Amino acid sequence: MDTGNEHITVEKKKEIGIITINRLEARNALNRKMLHELGDTLTCLENDLQIRVVIITGNKDFCAGADIKEMNEIKPEEIESFCRWGHKVINQIENMGKPVIAAITGFALGGGCELAIACDIRIAGKAAKFGQPEVNLGLIPGFGGTQRLSRLVGIARAKEMILTGKIIDAKEAESIGLVNRVVKDEELMIAAEEMAQVIAQKAPIAVKMAKTLINENQEIERGLEKEINLFAQCFATRDRPEGINAFLEKRKPEFKGI
Ligand code: CAA
Repeated sequence: MDTGNEHITVEKKKEIGIITINRLEARNALNRKMLHELGDTLTCLENDLQIRVVIITGNKDFCAGADIKEMNEIKPEEIESFCRWGHKVINQIENMGKPVIAAITGFALGGGCELAIACDIRIAGKAAKFGQPEVNLGLIPGFGGTQRLSRLVGIARAKEMILTGKIIDAKEAESIGLVNRVVKDEELMIAAEEMAQVIAQKAPIAVKMAKTLINENQEIERGLEKEINLFAQCFATRDRPEGINAFLEKRKPEFKGI
């Protein structure tokens, strides 16, 4: 389907809408243009009566997080609105009236991992890798990760991932409940489409109500709001430019806690 998008492509296969993230040169990092295109695409698929299930996947990688280079150019006073906008798009997935399946290939890091965990179901290829490495940049997860990850894998595992910034493989992600299933990389889309087909045959209103009710239990809004606030506070520290510059200069950061 030609949407005129630069980074987000959409394919419709009967009742299934497949969104593919496509920004190979930056490992599919989320820049503002992509965020904009993703939000619009989700709205289109939400309003498309033919579509019953959505799959989100990536070309080679799923998504390596927010675009670090672009983020470095954002002024501290503008970061809260950027973070709030990211939350809005990610919340669109969680609140969508149709199930969203993440089909994860390659890296799902930072905002990319947060995108995956806002989906209803995650299927990963064997080579997929997950992490919330924001602490390496002097930051915290800023697209809902501090709230959704602990609800998914438990507080201890979420703290281990977020505080160490470590990257885990698909097998470990499955063992802690971060992904539903791991399949051979070459079978990822087959597995995701099979699951989407199963759901697409069920009663759409019942499916929507079940999703809404399960989400209702999460009581996530207050924590999400606080995350936006604290992300902006971290962004205003001196450790943040040190972390980001260290990444861009491919060196180890020296954090001072100021
Ligand atoms: N933003 C911008 N560019 C990125 C990027 C990102 N998140 N991730 C990778 N890239 C770019 C790299 O800068 C590099 O570009 P150049 O060729 O111009 O140098 C290119 O993609 C390929 O990456 P690498 O050379 O680093 O490839 P690698 O195989 O050595 O490592 C990687 C791959 C482990 C994904 C590594 O690139 C990496 O650690 N990326 C950053 C991941 C990260 O920290 N994500 C969190 C971002 S902050 C965030 O998401 C906040 C939030 O919660 C909203």
